[in-house]
Amino acid sequence: MTSVYDGARIAAGYAFDRPAVHERILLPLAAAPRAECALDVGCGAGRSTAALAPYARTVVGLEPIASMLAHRSAVAPAAEFVVGEAERLPFARGSFDLVTAAGSLNYVDLDLFLPEAARVLTDGGRLYVYDFSEGRHAVGTDSLAGWFAAFEHHFPWPPGYRPLAPAALPWGEHGLRLVRCADTEVALELTGAQYLRYVLSEVNVNAALARGGSADEVVRWCTETLAPVFGSGSLRVRFCGYLAEAVRIAR
Ligand SMILES: C[S@@+](CC[C@H](N)C(=O)[O-])C[C@H]1O[C@@H](n2cnc3c(N)ncnc32)[C@H](O)[C@@H]1O
Repeated sequence: MTSVYDGARIAAGYAFDRPAVHERILLPLAAAPRAECALDVGCGAGRSTAALAPYARTVVGLEPIASMLAHRSAVAPAAEFVVGEAERLPFARGSFDLVTAAGSLNYVDLDLFLPEAARVLTDGGRLYVYDFSEGRHAVGTDSLAGWFAAFEHHFPWPPGYRPLAPAALPWGEHGLRLVRCADTEVALELTGAQYLRYVLSEVNVNAALARGGSADEVVRWCTETLAPVFGSGSLRVRFCGYLAEAVRIAR
């Protein structure tokens, strides 16, 4: 499988350089009883899997790109991981009372995934689909948005990502009922150095390097252009997204 997510560099970036947003988006899960067994579909390096620890006794991360799992023991030491695809979940019917997908369904055939999610969920089990944007805006200033526009112009996004509108998905056709779909926003105080590490983990940077670009050149461009945006201080960077919750209707 050829994927922009295949490689040691992006695996390390996703493991260690991404901001702690998942934990904040998932806070509403605390209102429900703790699950027995949770599955995180398209788990990447395992950050979204680690964020499930408070909400389930057993947590499994599923990811099609084996190299993305290189740092799984450091990222989510208590979780299990399986190499596999959302469209063909390698689990028995009713295996999980909690299934999540964080930023992964944009790459998935939803006509295949939704029935698979419904199959592996227990009756009454919950499916959470969520995502968050790049950190392209900061509180109280337009300068980061201007920088981000230049960044994505300089390093274009790779193909393959499809926008997703959770409220419009055919949940009911697959034995699922949408019970919540809300916008989310997480604002994190980041220094220029932290923000630099984070943007270097974005897939457009990886795509530029895959086309033969030089890592030193990318780092130099980002460092020099970010310097006037952050100065020696920090910014509250906004990560905007959504959280959708669907319930498995009793069979
Ligand atoms: C934006 S990353 C999100 C990773 C992780 N969930 C997180 O939030 O850090 C998208 C992930 O979806 C995975 N993915 C792509 N196609 C997939 C598929 N057919 N089934 C499951 N995961 C897939 C990619 O390999 C990648 O790791």
